[in-house]
Amino acid sequence: MDTKTAIETRRAIKHFDPTHRMTEYEIRELLSLAILSPTAFNIQNWRFVVVRDPGIRAALRAVSWMQPQITEASLLVVICADIHAWQKNPERYWRHAPEDVRARVLEAINTYYSGRPQVQRDEAMRSCGLAAQTLMLAARHFGYDSCPMDLADFDDAGRLINLPEDHVIGLFVAIGKGLREPWPRAGQLSLDDVIINDCFVADGA
Ligand SMILES: Cc1cc2nc3c(=O)[nH]c(=O)nc-3n(C[C@H](O)[C@H](O)[C@H](O)COP(=O)(O)O)c2cc1C
Repeated sequence: MDTKTAIETRRAIKHFDPTHRMTEYEIRELLSLAILSPTAFNIQNWRFVVVRDPGIRAALRAVSWMQPQITEASLLVVICADIHAWQKNPERYWRHAPEDVRARVLEAINTYYSGRPQVQRDEAMRSCGLAAQTLMLAARHFGYDSCPMDLADFDDAGRLINLPEDHVIGLFVAIGKGLREPWPRAGQLSLDDVIINDCFVADGA
């Protein structure tokens, strides 16, 4: 499937065929594509929790407004991020770069993230969002549907997957064979509603 078609046909699907099994090969392919998503300074801060255990799935569903996708999806990925990835052996993110480039980037990483918890968390969310979209478009390539998902309670979900202290959950992505056609798009804004040329108009101008 070409990229334009993948973007146009990706929809947030509410019901998946619970009997469909995805192969381990397909799962690895999807995740291999997801980790080609961009991250600032290449820190690759996302972590992908693949939830196969039916008990954990059921418990996650209970903290996600009982949404059926959580248990029906062939693949459920909790897209998390390590907020401190930037300081955990960052040399490895640049190991194939020339030595002088590596030294400069490592210094820049340290300067950018040190003592800035809000920036660290924002970066985590940016990375999760980009990875989620890559994963969902990759799913289209393999003939799968998907749904990005929020949770009613992120803290409970974190406990269920044993989320480390310095990690955050970005969102869930459920992937599978959709059972029903999605509704027509609910209320897409026009380009004019969302494009700002050059800068926002100042209040009172
Ligand atoms: C961060 C995020 C969280 C979402 N959470 C849910 C969710 O919990 N359940 C759901 O059915 N859809 C969820 N959606 C899907 C949106 O409702 C959907 O993307 C939006 O209505 C546009 O529809 P479309 O994706 O089919 O174009 C979420 C989307 C995003 C980006």
